[in-house]
Amino acid sequence: MKTILVTGASGYIGSHTITALYEAGYDVVAIDNLCNSSETVTDRLRKIVGFNFPFYEIDVRDSSSVRSVITKHKIDAAIHFAGLKSVSESVLQPLKYYDNNVAGTIAFLQVLYSYGVKRLVFSSSATVYGDFKDVLISETAPLQSAHSYGMSKIVVEKILGDISNTGEKWNIGILRYFNPIGAHKSGLIGDNPKGIPSNLIPCVARVASGQHGKLLIFGNDWSTPDGTAIRDYIHVMDVARGHILALNYLFSNDSGFTVNLGTGRGYSVLEVVKTFERVNNCYVPYEFTSRRNGDVAICCADATLAKKLFGWESSIDLDTMCRDVWRWQTNVINMEG
Ligand code: NAD
Ligand code: WQD
Repeated sequence: MKTILVTGASGYIGSHTITALYEAGYDVVAIDNLCNSSETVTDRLRKIVGFNFPFYEIDVRDSSSVRSVITKHKIDAAIHFAGLKSVSESVLQPLKYYDNNVAGTIAFLQVLYSYGVKRLVFSSSATVYGDFKDVLISETAPLQSAHSYGMSKIVVEKILGDISNTGEKWNIGILRYFNPIGAHKSGLIGDNPKGIPSNLIPCVARVASGQHGKLLIFGNDWSTPDGTAIRDYIHVMDVARGHILALNYLFSNDSGFTVNLGTGRGYSVLEVVKTFERVNNCYVPYEFTSRRNGDVAICCADATLAKKLFGWESSIDLDTMCRDVWRWQTNVINMEG
């Protein structure tokens, strides 16, 4: 059985991917500093996977602690989710973002290298395409970003490209996620950011459950059919499955890749809100406000490369994504009060 070192393991995408790793027959060693997640996630995850996998509360920048973890376990590959992800916070605190996301990744890569672990899957983002205007964005689009979060992903992608070209036999898969939403079918784990969420779906869920008064929709004057912005929402379990196929590819090929994980189908903010209300029989009061800084009208993936390379394509529709979010949202209120 191959063992995968997972950083950012208690976070939204990391935790869901761990369920998929166990289903696929991998073993996991988990690391997280809990800056944006809670220790309860590990207990719930252990319940879901039926195994008491090791979890270490460690910062990836703390190289000596990461070394001691790798010394204890035989690691075959790593998935590096650990990172900060708020666009608005990154504008206010760029050093925090470059330190955590770039310096943190460099420190982690140096430790991996010193132990000969050279298979890695890295969490990148559609944010690296900035406001590129193709209807479906392919991996060859130019990279650009107006904020430090996006730049931190672009810089790390460049570093990963450079080390892949050294002849040192790094085997790296870069996954550019579009807009992951949804939750595990158990209702035990989901997207549960600390503080006030900025992403659409956690806001919709909190408004629907009465925790927030009204959803603010950022702009109804975009050049889209209903005037609200369009995104490529993808179920987090489809994203998780993408990591399994990516890893399988890295274990059986001597080359890396950079691919989009999206559905290729976009929905407007209003379509998401209406779908959420319909499938969950709930009410999401909203009002329109001005556009959010840095937003774009449409951002959808050309997802053909992942299918061609390792047979991945999305399989879960928006209705199911919204139902799964609601199951999680109502459960988490019961579990955490
Ligand atoms: P998340 O915040 O839920 O999870 C990230 C986890 O990493 C958190 O549990 C946090 O505590 C941990 N972490 C952060 N810095 C760390 C450090 N220095 N050392 C150890 N642990 C650390 O975010 P997520 O949505 O699960 O995102 C995972 C990755 O995917 C991130 O790199 C993010 O940038 C990227 N991504 C997310 C999205 C999205 O919409 N959720 C889209 C594209 C890319
Ligand atoms: C979706 C749409 C908002 C909240 C961000 C990052 C991207 C990636 C995914 C990490 C937009 C609108 C939102 C609200 C709203 N993350 N909205 N009211 O902006 O597409 O992408 O998360 O890598 O990098 O930029 O996602 O969920 O924030 O917004 O009207 O309260 O919902 O304007 O059109 P976004 P989002």
